[in-house]
Amino acid sequence: MSRPCYAQVDLEALRHNYRLAGELAPSAQAVAVVKANAYGHGAVEAAKALEPLAPALGVACIEEALELRHAGIQKPILLLEGIFSADEVAIASEEHFFLMVENLEQIEAIIQADIDQALHCWLKVDTGMHRLGLLPEQVDAALAVLKASPNVQPDIIMASHFASADELDNPSNAEQLRCFDKLIAECEQAQGLDQSLANSATILAHPSAHRQWLRPGFMLYGASPFTEDNENAAKLKPVMSLISEVISLRPIQSGERVGYGGKWQAERDSIIATIACGYGDGYPRHASNGTPVLIDGQEAPLVGRVSMDMITVDVTDIANVQLGSRAEMWGKNLCVNRIAEHAHTIAYELLTRMPARPPRVYQNEHPNREA
Ligand SMILES: Cc1ncc(COP(=O)(O)O)c(C=O)c1O
Repeated sequence: MSRPCYAQVDLEALRHNYRLAGELAPSAQAVAVVKANAYGHGAVEAAKALEPLAPALGVACIEEALELRHAGIQKPILLLEGIFSADEVAIASEEHFFLMVENLEQIEAIIQADIDQALHCWLKVDTGMHRLGLLPEQVDAALAVLKASPNVQPDIIMASHFASADELDNPSNAEQLRCFDKLIAECEQAQGLDQSLANSATILAHPSAHRQWLRPGFMLYGASPFTEDNENAAKLKPVMSLISEVISLRPIQSGERVGYGGKWQAERDSIIATIACGYGDGYPRHASNGTPVLIDGQEAPLVGRVSMDMITVDVTDIANVQLGSRAEMWGKNLCVNRIAEHAHTIAYELLTRMPARPPRVYQNEHPNREA
């Protein structure tokens, strides 16, 4: 017997979501973003599942890239924030890491490095997000310096990132695109270079920004980045299901309270099911009363505070709940976005903050030969 809480990870769903990105932008290539432990799903397993499909993988930093190399991943790996110190340039060159280049200090470190293998560089331009990237007016000179360096491969990729791609009507999307296109049109050094602008929301909803290289992250894990309905996002398949069981069932009388602080009070005689999954397992502590939980496929509301190891659910209105009944906190049958909404956060955070405690149980590690 062991504690019944685990995170099931369906690697065929992951591959399906990656393929969807390719179908939506058939002439582009897609770097599969597996940073932050593949958004909580397990970076090595996700990278192994995606490596046969993707020309490259994307991570945030060199430590994440080295973890993949040490696990046997051979494809190029893009460091989405580039180098954090000059000594990382030599490692990137030896290990075939692509570098996002986003400031003048990084450029200096790259051109000064003593390396044998020239690097693939992606030049990040700040088109309005004001987080990372060179200013548009710095780009021409920066490209000239990079192109003149034997340390840099000539096929530099021009990149930028949208601040609000998940907000379909936000005018900043068109403004950022206009800024980028104007820069490319006016910058002699940028002529003929490949471009990369598209994260998940852009891939799903902004085809004019697909260009040559996509960078899908969140969509790979099967939830929509949008709050409104989207036809393409509806084709995504959830990858992670957080599963556990009912470990205790008790009747309580009207007026009795449940959980730490007695914050929920029954308004009728009720049946409370306790499930072995709490904030120590990644369930959000701020999930409010009424957050849906699926018990043997039926929705019932969370009641009372979320504990470290358990949650309590009002199962008065659903039939046949027993000790051992299966509980799904989110996953294939209950969209993680609904839980995030009840917890006043986003599914990106819920997935990425999944702790190691619930074992990851991988399904479909090998592609179905008929698929
Ligand atoms: C530069 C860059 N590209 C791509 C991604 C992937 O974005 P998403 O997970 O929204 O697809 C990120 C994520 O933060 C990013 O920072």
